Amino acid sequence: MLKHTNYPLKGLNTFGIEAYAREYIEVHGNEALLSLFSKNPGKHLILGGGSNVLFRSDFDGVVIRIAMHGKKIIGTMPGKLLLEVSAGEDWDDLVAYCVDRNWGGLENLSLIPGQVGSSPIQNIGAYGVELKDHFYSLTAFDKEKKEFSVFDKKACRFGYRNSFFKQNGKNRFVITSVIFALDTRPIPQTAYGSLRSELDKTGIDRPKIKDVRQVVCSIRRSKLPDPDELGNAGSFFKNPVISGQTYLQLRERFPDMVVFDDPKGKKLAAAWLIDQAGWKGYRRGDAGVHEKQALVIVNHGKATGNEIIQLADEIQRSVIEKYGVRLEPEVNII
Ligand code: FAD
Ligand code: EPU
Repeated sequence: MLKHTNYPLKGLNTFGIEAYAREYIEVHGNEALLSLFSKNPGKHLILGGGSNVLFRSDFDGVVIRIAMHGKKIIGTMPGKLLLEVSAGEDWDDLVAYCVDRNWGGLENLSLIPGQVGSSPIQNIGAYGVELKDHFYSLTAFDKEKKEFSVFDKKACRFGYRNSFFKQNGKNRFVITSVIFALDTRPIPQTAYGSLRSELDKTGIDRPKIKDVRQVVCSIRRSKLPDPDELGNAGSFFKNPVISGQTYLQLRERFPDMVVFDDPKGKKLAAAWLIDQAGWKGYRRGDAGVHEKQALVIVNHGKATGNEIIQLADEIQRSVIEKYGVRLEPEVNII
């Protein structure tokens, strides 16, 4: 393993924040991981594609980049197959690989940046599908016990942008591979509002999963900034879930408020709350709010992590003042 010191992280986080790691290592396999943690590496950060992190400042520790590659079919049954994928594979390359073979399940999650190993951490979701819907199990290295363990779906305790790895298991495990349960006779999931209406516009009678992928990619390109052009980490906050009763009170004051049903009550569109509070397109220095999607905080060039956090704090306060609703960051602040 090659160890670098004072390593630049700007190209390794989609926010494009300029920060340096005291040390930087890429881990290419399980043995290397085991040997790294057999001695105590001290303060460290596991980094995937860097698309859901915000560096507050330089990282005074070891950044460990996951670089394990490979995929293999490990089981088949009528209508299904199990595909095991190493943590360092690029998420969207995996989606394209599956769609090319007509293996269904992941197509609604097209174009989400990041690595396969990070996908279970916040149970990535988009356009009516969440990772958990096609998840079978994962293998993770337990840094405390120094052994590899398998987690099935139940053990992962998936929720909206949540899992065991963001709760009790936080900072203890390194995910090394994920097994997906894919459909070999796929039925496209097209119920999500904007996906349905865009598919209707194509005039395709019975869309296939390749059509779903194409439409999802085109919707995303139309409203989410490409991190190669404008630094960002997708939605900065989660959509807040509130009780049905609180929602009814809010609706009296804000009848146009955008809301989705949720098993725990009502999920509000944080983008709407922020937009209506007047933040969309706002810019101070190089920190700003995207002009097409108010939930996306952007770095116009040289914003520091602290400038982004200051702006996020102000947005959070103004949303509490206006609606009494607290927004919780989705982005992992380092
Ligand atoms: P990183 O940012 O590298 O890491 C995220 C967290 O996971 C960190 O805490 C890190 O320490 C930890 N981690 C990373 N790899 C491992 C591992 N192998 N083992 C243990 N811990 C690990 N998310 C959605 O859910 N839906 C979307 O539609 C969506 N759209 C996005 C659009 C854009 C333009 C961007 C920039 C982001 C978007 N995201 C979305 C957020 C992000 O892409 C996902 O959260 C993604 O899963 C992060 O992957 P990553 O490899 O970049 O993780
Ligand atoms: N809206 C506004 N103003 C805006 C943008 C949106 O009022 O500037 C309203 C619109 O009415 C829209 C509603 O807010 O109907 C919701 O917006 P959108 O469909 O863009 O979805 P979102 O709730 O903002 C969520 C996820 C995204 C995911 C999309 C599609 C969260 C925190 N975000 O965004 O995930 O791609 O749905 O499913 O749940 C991410 O997690 O990083 C991410 C990008």
